[in-house]
Amino acid sequence: MFNLPTIVSSADGRYQVVNSSLEMLSDLEQIQRISFPELSDGELMLSEHFASHIKIFPAGQHAIIDTLEQKVVASSSDIMLELDFGHYQHKFFPAVGDGFFTTHNPNARWLYGADIGVLPEYRSQGLSSLLYQARQKLVVQLGLHGHYAGAMPKGYGAVRDEMPIEAYLHEVIRNERFDPVLSIQLKRGYRIYGVIPEYLEDASCANYGILIVWRNSAVNWS
Ligand SMILES: CC(C)(COP(=O)(O)OP(=O)(O)OC[C@H]1O[C@@H](n2cnc3c(N)ncnc32)[C@H](O)[C@@H]1OP(=O)(O)O)[C@@H](O)C(=O)NCCC(=O)NCCS
Repeated sequence: MFNLPTIVSSADGRYQVVNSSLEMLSDLEQIQRISFPELSDGELMLSEHFASHIKIFPAGQHAIIDTLEQKVVASSSDIMLELDFGHYQHKFFPAVGDGFFTTHNPNARWLYGADIGVLPEYRSQGLSSLLYQARQKLVVQLGLHGHYAGAMPKGYGAVRDEMPIEAYLHEVIRNERFDPVLSIQLKRGYRIYGVIPEYLEDASCANYGILIVWRNSAVNWS
């Protein structure tokens, strides 16, 4: 059914990361809806958004095919956006052109992670790690400085009345607490650079985004 070049695959070859294609639009919307049950409706990416992503920046759109079931089971969406470490406060949806990626800047030095989702029954099998590998591979291929995102600390909403976000992050960084999103990103080489209040509207992360950055080691940072 899907006959697309493989970018990265699992060790046994069952899961293959490919560039998303128009035939996957309803699958991508479904993955999004299931992955972000508490995100406000106005910030969900739907089929028309994914179609625009594929048109504007096809190389930045990744999907995972389960070759056994011939099914799309995970996806991630990226655009190129500049990163200013002195002024990183921003809101998710306007930053990504209200979901359509019209803010994509082909001259930017950074790749911005707009979205990643794995179907629940496929989680904890290393699929997000395959997507992070594909995204980091793209950064290296394009000679970019790195990959960054406003990560959603999805375990924070449940404890927001017990501690400030900074204390929560310290516990996650010290591995004293597992956050279902941030802990995985830290394992994959991302580092926390800042806190973005009112990044989006989602109770699970108390509307916070956490600026996370993965730097391309081929770039001379001195
Ligand atoms: C976040 C998400 C993409 C992760 O996808 P995934 O495919 O399950 O992630 P992986 O399997 O690659 O990695 C999971 C890691 O967490 C670890 N892990 C899972 N539960 C854990 C727990 N309770 N304690 C400690 N580690 C745990 C796993 O062992 C694995 O690490 P390892 O590979 O080093 O062993 C997925 O949960 C998802 O789609 N969530 C909903 C959408 C979302 O929140 N996206 C992020 C928006 S910023």
